[in-house]
Amino acid sequence: MKIVHTIKDLQAGLSALRAQGKKVGLVPTMGALHAGHASLVKRCVAENGAAVVSVFVNPTQFNDKNDLEKYPRTLEADCALLEACGAAFVFAPSVAEMYPEPDTRQFSYAPLDTVMEGAFRPGHFNGVCQIVSKLFDAVKPDRAYFGEKDFQQLAIIREMVRQMNYPLEIVGCPIVREEDGLALSSRNARLSAGERKNALKISQTLFESRTFAASHTVAETQKFVEDAIAAAPGLRLEYFELVDGNTLQRIANWEETAYAVGCITVFCGEVRLIDNVKYKE
Ligand code: PAF
Repeated sequence: MKIVHTIKDLQAGLSALRAQGKKVGLVPTMGALHAGHASLVKRCVAENGAAVVSVFVNPTQFNDKNDLEKYPRTLEADCALLEACGAAFVFAPSVAEMYPEPDTRQFSYAPLDTVMEGAFRPGHFNGVCQIVSKLFDAVKPDRAYFGEKDFQQLAIIREMVRQMNYPLEIVGCPIVREEDGLALSSRNARLSAGERKNALKISQTLFESRTFAASHTVAETQKFVEDAIAAAPGLRLEYFELVDGNTLQRIANWEETAYAVGCITVFCGEVRLIDNVKYKE
């Protein structure tokens, strides 16, 4: 496995791989890697000849400076995990390498990016699209892998690829959870032991709501989740939305879609956690 810091070095290495007839898969990450990332990388290695994993905490997608500063940076441990997963390249650029000048491009995929995370984190998805498009341009991957935990991000990246005609396949990968159900997230590392216990109520509530939803309306299921999180110690609900999984727009009844997803964002202490479950697909 090679660790490179510049686009030039990365592209030189990738040309050598392509000369051997290998396909190239890309797993974009912000580091602080966990078993969820490992599952993406292993799948990427298995489905392509070679995997490039980018490790870059992208400043343009953080609308909260504090969140950017506190984002865990663990490149050495990340590289050890990636080596074990069989990655060919770790691309760990500097901010100056990715943004030699301010990126003034505006990406807008309304209404996908105006709801949920888009409403609560203005500019977030614009920053995500800026960096992901730069990574696609640098790597020119055959496939790129993203986790379904960031459900809205995945939908927006698919739309960006569609509209910009990127010649690559986006592969969405299922959420990886701790044994007790908590969705894996780099942010979990910031939870105290007490907060970690409180956070468990998020996935528990989502799973219970699936059973509840089988005999209740969308509005009742919405209230079920809101009430459970409000009653849970140490949690503060930012939003829970029951949406059509393709359009990300709210649904009013189960019959109006074949693909219903519940997306949630909850503050556990100061740590903002997201999760989702599918009710129909
Ligand atoms: O999902 C993430 O970790 C980031 O948003 C991504 C896709 C790596 C872009 O910085």
